Amino acid sequence: MMIRKHCALVALEDVKIYLNEEGGQIAVFDATNTTRERRDLIIGFVKENAYKVFFVESVCDDPEVIAANILEVKVSSPDYPETHRERVMDDFLKRIECYKVTYQPLDPDAYDKALSFIKVMNVGRRFLVNRVQDYIQSKIVYYLMNIHVHSHSIYLCRHGESEHNVQGRIGGDSELSPRGRQFANALRDFVEEHKLSDLKVWTSQLRRTILTAEELGVPYEQWKILNEIDAGVCEEMTYDMIQNTFPEEFALRDQDKYHYRYPGGESYQDLVQRLEPVIMELERQGNVLVICHQAVMRCLLAYFLDKSADGLPYIKCPLHSVMKLTPVAYGCKVEMFYLNVEAVNTHRDRPLAKVRRDSAPLVQRRNSYTPLSTHDQVKRPRLYSAGNRPRLPLTPSPTTLHFPDMPEGALLLQPNQGSLCEGNSFDSADEFNDCFRF
Ligand code: F6P
Repeated sequence: MMIRKHCALVALEDVKIYLNEEGGQIAVFDATNTTRERRDLIIGFVKENAYKVFFVESVCDDPEVIAANILEVKVSSPDYPETHRERVMDDFLKRIECYKVTYQPLDPDAYDKALSFIKVMNVGRRFLVNRVQDYIQSKIVYYLMNIHVHSHSIYLCRHGESEHNVQGRIGGDSELSPRGRQFANALRDFVEEHKLSDLKVWTSQLRRTILTAEELGVPYEQWKILNEIDAGVCEEMTYDMIQNTFPEEFALRDQDKYHYRYPGGESYQDLVQRLEPVIMELERQGNVLVICHQAVMRCLLAYFLDKSADGLPYIKCPLHSVMKLTPVAYGCKVEMFYLNVEAVNTHRDRPLAKVRRDSAPLVQRRNSYTPLSTHDQVKRPRLYSAGNRPRLPLTPSPTTLHFPDMPEGALLLQPNQGSLCEGNSFDSADEFNDCFRF
């Protein structure tokens, strides 16, 4: 008990450092805070530091849900070394019995009635929400009410190659090139081969995604908010044209691609906010195929694979490839299928840092960045706790690969079928990073 309490205190110290020194805004203190004494400790800590606290209690008494959860989640939990997998079920059920002895659930009618919290019962069958204090807390409630634990996959791809892609122009609303139409046919075969019959298909409202979906011969839904990033005055230009016409703008974008906003257009940060309803709906739904665009696909991937804002605009999303994401415990399984139809490469690498000849700072155009934006926090490995060194990556097992540079939350599993990164499985961190290049 003493050791466990010490761990909790050390973790609270981490929370404090994160919120006070590292510019963090929301910290999740994830632990079995199942006694009043422990929750009172947290409340005392919160008062002392003038923070706000919102408790999330998940209560599950349905034996079927518990058994499924143990099998799906706990078996791959770091609590259980690989060698003791077969004992997980027994051990975890015993652990639940032990918790029952001391567990004091939140009491909404008396002891805890003044607290802000949500009780989630049987993984979302019922909710009890108490004293939501602000916008963020209401968003947390909204999020928890929308996520589910049923297994599902999200298929992401870009439209078939467009006329503008061939000419190297960005944005616009052009039609598919002959190879783009070929991809649409290949995508239909892919959907049929993979027997994705209960699949929902979503497109943007731009012609290139609609024409791609039309070939599938299934109903699809058009979302305006899935439209490609708005490049404002640079729409329909090539990168060279932008560099020659608006050299300052071009340099500003290279300097901070995530926060940079095109004049009269959008930034990646704007796009992330625009996409929130799509992300929420993807959390709610079963299997969905999203036919979208380069920048949009990067934002969706970054959400599911927990990429940082800085790396997001450089994630490689080649044309004519489908990425299958399957949320699993502690991450997302990723499979990539190249549909064997050639296409131009629209990816522009992160430029190597250049020293400006005149060394004058770049002029910042008013409105070229999202006002009051806070920069993305430095992500620390989850197990890098106060006073400890980060844990070394796990040794790859035959079915699971962990790479040192993979972001927290992304778990890459070897697919049973299809191919990872255009026909290859990743044998090293370098290969993985080459595919999701930062
Ligand atoms: O080139 C295709 C495209 O989808 C453009 O329409 C869009 O502006 C661009 O990709 C986004 O990529 P980046 O942010 O790397 O310029």
